[in-house]
Amino acid sequence: MLAGRRIVLGITGGIAAYKSAHLARLLVQAGAEVRTVVTESALRFIGPATLSGLTGVAPATGFWDEPTAAPHLDLARWADAVCVAPATAATMARLAHGLSEDLLSAVVLATRAPVVIAPAMHSEMWSHPSTRRNLAALLADGVTVVGPASGPLAGGDAGPGRMVEPEEIAAALERSLGAGTLEGWRVLVTAGGTREPIDPVRFVGNRSSGKMGHAVAEEAAARGAVVTLVTAADPPAARRLEAIRVETAQEMAEAVWSRAGEVDVAVMAAAVADFRPAQPASGKLRRAAGPPDLVLEPTPDVLAGVAAMRPRPFLVGFAAETGPAEGAVAKAVSKGVDLLVANDVTVAGSGFGSEDNEVALILPDGTLERWERLPKRRVAALLWERIAELRSRGTP
Ligand SMILES: Cc1cc2nc3c(=O)[nH]c(=O)nc-3n(C[C@H](O)[C@H](O)[C@H](O)COP(=O)(O)O)c2cc1C
Repeated sequence: MLAGRRIVLGITGGIAAYKSAHLARLLVQAGAEVRTVVTESALRFIGPATLSGLTGVAPATGFWDEPTAAPHLDLARWADAVCVAPATAATMARLAHGLSEDLLSAVVLATRAPVVIAPAMHSEMWSHPSTRRNLAALLADGVTVVGPASGPLAGGDAGPGRMVEPEEIAAALERSLGAGTLEGWRVLVTAGGTREPIDPVRFVGNRSSGKMGHAVAEEAAARGAVVTLVTAADPPAARRLEAIRVETAQEMAEAVWSRAGEVDVAVMAAAVADFRPAQPASGKLRRAAGPPDLVLEPTPDVLAGVAAMRPRPFLVGFAAETGPAEGAVAKAVSKGVDLLVANDVTVAGSGFGSEDNEVALILPDGTLERWERLPKRRVAALLWERIAELRSRGTP
């Protein structure tokens, strides 16, 4: 379930840092993309060449050594999860107080992804009241703390404070990413922009890249659901995901309607054409013949077709709007969906083709819930959490 996930691995200045190399390797082997962020002290314990070799990317060492203007924000937004292993007493103190004076602390402060830390220190440091206070603050902030274990420590000592083994940290990371939470769910997701032929070489299309729908499908698969993805874009390769490639609204409707009766949740994130050329030409239209009269006709309404099914799956619709989300409220009510995700595709850096999305959720009673701009995979993760919550309340 770590496959395809983006992990920032923070390494701080403790003896246990030598084990972080093994952790990085485990994550990479499991199919995760790993970027390491090391503190200055960590570099006393582990060499950058080791981390570059294991992850394929040089470790980030500080604010001022990176090519981008704000590396802490880039890494914070890129990550599906942030892991700090080992976490020294000093780093725990900084994280507990939001002291973002080094790159790693700033990444943790700026991220909205789950954070897992694996403390490692001498028993005296671990049991000190200040560390206990910092631990309590971190737990209250929602940080997952794994370990420490009791056992041999550096310098021949023994006791609580030993970093847990990399395998245990990887498992905690996996859990924090929601692995297994959709176990037993059957899910149908649509993605991409349909293409309606004008002639054999030209089509009426739209700007959807399929990234949002693919993120929703991949996230569901990573959480243990059995996923069918009906997509008009090139599908991603992911375990537990069956991809059906379609081109037109008609093909999408047929693929969706024949399967929607067998799933628990359907998320309609595709941008389906509302109109198509009524009579596509069988041969290529020639310039010499002059501009054709394109007569359009309505396409099947894929979402409405699923909404009309009885029984029907829990239904989530996506609406690409070109104005404030309030405009989508009427649509949510009229379409009969359980949840509508509206995004204003005119906002720069959000929506079609971009890595991020800024969405608003509209519930059937018209309640509007605005989310900040987040990476699409993070939007997908939060969306599944919201769907699980709504379904547990007894909506279909
Ligand atoms: C040999 C050696 C081993 C250390 N091991 C640890 C450790 O396991 N845990 C810890 O909290 N600090 C340890 N320290 C102290 C940290 O390196 C020190 O507090 C440092 O400022 C931590 O910085 P960082 O959290 O930014 O990496 C050790 C120091 C030395 C010299």
